[in-house]
Amino acid sequence: MRTLRTQVLIIGAGPAGLLLGQLLHKAGVANLILERQTGDYVLGRIRAGVLEQTTVDLLDEAGVGARMHAEGLVHHGFELMFDGQRHHIDLSRLTGGKSVTVYGQTEVTHDLMDARAAAGLQTLYSAADVELFGFDGDRPGARCTVDDERIEVQCDYIAGCDGYHGVSRASVPVDAIRTHEKVYPFGWLGLLSDTPPVSHELIYGRHERGFTLCSMRSATRSRYYLQVPLTEQASDWSDERFWAELRRRLDPAAAAALVTGPSLEKSIAPLRSFVAEPMRFGRLFLAGDAAHIVPPTGAKGLNLAASDVRYLSQALIEHYGERSGAGIQHYSARCLSRIWKAERFSWWFTGLMHPLPHEPEIDAKLHRAELEYLVTSEAAMAAMAENYVGLPV
Ligand code: APR
Ligand code: PHB
Repeated sequence: MRTLRTQVLIIGAGPAGLLLGQLLHKAGVANLILERQTGDYVLGRIRAGVLEQTTVDLLDEAGVGARMHAEGLVHHGFELMFDGQRHHIDLSRLTGGKSVTVYGQTEVTHDLMDARAAAGLQTLYSAADVELFGFDGDRPGARCTVDDERIEVQCDYIAGCDGYHGVSRASVPVDAIRTHEKVYPFGWLGLLSDTPPVSHELIYGRHERGFTLCSMRSATRSRYYLQVPLTEQASDWSDERFWAELRRRLDPAAAAALVTGPSLEKSIAPLRSFVAEPMRFGRLFLAGDAAHIVPPTGAKGLNLAASDVRYLSQALIEHYGERSGAGIQHYSARCLSRIWKAERFSWWFTGLMHPLPHEPEIDAKLHRAELEYLVTSEAAMAAMAENYVGLPV
């Protein structure tokens, strides 16, 4: 068996793993990534794309911000739509000037992969049968199979950045971890199209037929979502059916302005809130989707992965630099404090904007009253804006 050695072994080449690798590399900490899929497969996944300022700053710190600043769209607000009317949420006015950047997660992943390749850092793609060992002791590592060759990687620390279905969290003894999960009784049918966005800002809409989100990737590429029952298949939805349903749920002005076209991608994503605690087990750390999932309504998924990576990179750089264990000691608590607040915001926003199947009329009226309060109260709008642009790290 071939044996490799590194300081930090990262499982997963999604945005969390790649960003961690880049920040550690910049600080002179050696790292190696094992990724189950090919690079092209990882890049092929369509995901959200609203970046908090703290995420933008971290990508700059990692040296991968150039294209994001050149092609990303800075948004100072978004719109809430209900009862056929839109209401502007002025994020910058409500937060003392903060904004978000609309830049696809696929692009972020692309920039990180390019930077890693340019730096000549080692990533083993198509690494099958990854098994972790020794993270409860002093000599952790992993074994995997690449091109039919079994390889052992020895390291000081393992960063489990392998997502919800990864091996890292699954390797933790069940009595050492607690998980909390809420699954929502609906999904998001997403459609990507090379059509101009219906509005220059995002529109989050609540309609009796279901939630709607109008988003974008650029001035010529749009991303739309419709709330659908979990029993639906994407194949049940022709483009025509999608556009017709979207138009029905939009306010008249947006419905008239909507430009339709052939879909580039169409898929249904389930919605869940999930948190695993703690996030460190000896010399194994969990970061990103490996430890938590948020419903996409608040666009917090990538931003939470980034803040985990901020805390983890600081902790490991502090360890190798000043030989201090403080960051490592406090990693889990620091992450979970921010994670639970983002989980709360995402759950609240999801509940507010998605009518439940067979919703009792009183619930619909209570949500209606909350929406009206939200768009008429400065205090309520400010609280929402503060969470949407991202709580401090
Ligand atoms: N061995 C090696 N790699 C693995 C394994 C395994 N056993 N299991 C999963 N992986 C890889 C996946 O193929 C994927 O490329 O780990 C990577 C995890 O990446 P993501 O799922 O994108 O998770 P993360 O990097 O934490 O990014 C979180 O992704 O889902 C969105 O909304 C979420 O925006 C958030 C972001
Ligand atoms: C997206 O652009 O895909 C997107 C934007 C905002 C969200 C969720 C998804 O809340």
